[in-house]
This record gives sequence, structure tokens and C-alpha cells, in this order.
Amino acid sequence: MNNNRLLIDTNPSQQKLSGTRVSHIGFRVPDIEATTVFYQRVLGMAVHENSLEGVVRLGWGSGHHVIELTSGKYALTHFGFETQDSESINALQSRLEDANVVVRALDAAYMDAAVGDPQGIEFEDPDGNRVHFHTAMDHLGEHQADIGRRPIRFQHTTVGSDDVKRMVAFYANIVGFSLSDQLSNGNFAWLRSDRDHHTLAVVDIGMRGQLDHYSFDLSEWEDFKQWCDRLTDLNVEVTWGPGRHGPGNNLFVFFDDPAGTHIELSAEMEKFHDDLVTYVPRLWEPTPRSVNLWGGQLSKFRKMAKEA
Ligand SMILES: [Fe+2]
Repeated sequence: MNNNRLLIDTNPSQQKLSGTRVSHIGFRVPDIEATTVFYQRVLGMAVHENSLEGVVRLGWGSGHHVIELTSGKYALTHFGFETQDSESINALQSRLEDANVVVRALDAAYMDAAVGDPQGIEFEDPDGNRVHFHTAMDHLGEHQADIGRRPIRFQHTTVGSDDVKRMVAFYANIVGFSLSDQLSNGNFAWLRSDRDHHTLAVVDIGMRGQLDHYSFDLSEWEDFKQWCDRLTDLNVEVTWGPGRHGPGNNLFVFFDDPAGTHIELSAEMEKFHDDLVTYVPRLWEPTPRSVNLWGGQLSKFRKMAKEA
């Protein structure tokens, strides 16, 4: 196979992440109250009582928070990942420092439901995004069946960039993500850190430091179908989908929160078994049909820097 168009070397010798899931994501929003109400009303989240002054943290049940809102001009403030153990954090810190990336201890406020002794680090990626990694948190309240009324968990983050190759090199070669798929022109890449096809993705939108979208997982088709009806009932406009992505093979439907953040609900994402099989990243042709197998239409919200 000709790998010349792959964004990274497929046989790196460095340590790879495993069992590492997304953890939380933060936004600065102009109307914190309206955004909070939206997450309560539409996503079934509750405000955490331990939220600090001027900060609203939301999640399901009493476990780790998922969303952090602060007030101000709209921005992505940070996004986080959760490892299974402190050895993974220590190894990641070493890899980052060997690459001259400044690593700071993560504020304890971001580890508000730790299982055991919390350990966390914070660093900036090449685009200046603030990234958190921390040890395991309690996720009480997730994964409880409540079909059509509450997603089961926060599932992936897709960041916009103006240099996908540089971002993928950083996340794959230093942080330890594995490349699952990419568009053959290099403008979109999907990276994994656990069994899911992607927990992080990077898309070229011609600018850096901006979120493209983030996603919640639903349990199955029945749940997905009921969510599409529920969005209608709640008068939430669908902005893209429903459809099925080629990369990841997941069902998707998109809508916005009041601050304009693009939210995806997803189900049936492809699973990877790195302990059993070796994968070669696939090169998807940059056509509308690749990112939407059912209908072929592209998202209205995404302004790709170059033709997808
Ligand atoms: Fe997505």
C-alpha cells in the first residue's frame, strides 16, 4: 500500500495511549444562564453544586463534570482526557517534556470526582489549545438507561486547525494517539485512545484554537431515533444529519447550543481492538459521501479551509 499520503508514520516506536477516554470540555459563553438551561433542558444535565464562583459545571449524576461554562466572549477554554492510572500520566509527562512541551500540574478543581489519588497535568498543543489529562474519575450517573432522554457519555472532541499535519504529528507521535482514518488530502484526521474509532479528531477550518464540534454517545439505533424525535419536540433545530459517517461508521445528528457550539449525538461507533489486530489507517476520498454515507450532503456549519 502506498502510505505517502498518510499524515504520520504508521509504525512509530513510542508508547500509545489505551483505555483513555474523553473527560470534560470547557467553554466561555456570552449568556451563561441560557446555555446552562439548555444543557439541563435538552441534554438532561444537572449543575454540580461544587461549582466555583463564576463557573458552572454540569454533568450527569454526582460523578465527574462534563461541561464547564464561564462567562465572556465565546471561546473553547480547554478539553480533557482521562487515563486509567497514574503511570500513564507519568509516561505522558515524560514524553511531553522530552519534546520541550511545558507541563503544569492540573488544578484540583478539574478532578472533582477522583477515584483514588487524583493526578493530572495540563499543557498546550501546537495550536495553543489547553489540554488536560488526569487519572480516573467517578462517572456515577452515566451509562444508566434513559432512552431518548439523556446521552450516555461525552464521547469525542473535534478541534479545528490550520495545520492538521502538525496537530496529528503532535497527538500521535508525542501524546500517543493512534491514527484511525484520514481524508486522503490530509484535511481531516480521526485519532483513537481507547476502543472507539476516535476520541479526538482534527479538521482544517483555516484557523486554530477553535472547536469544530464535540459529541455525546447514544446507546443504539432505538435511542438515536428517539433523540431525533425529541429534538423536534424540544424545538431544537437539527443542523446536519441524521446520517452515517464513513470514518467511524457512526450514526450522527448535529445541533447547536445557545452559544453556537456544534453538538453531535452519535451511536454505533466502530470499535478497534489494538491488542488483537494491527490496523492501517484508511485514506477516505474527500467527497461529501465519505463523511455522510447516507445522503452525501456536507455540514452547513463547517467551513473547510479547502475543498473537503
Ligand atoms: Fe464527530
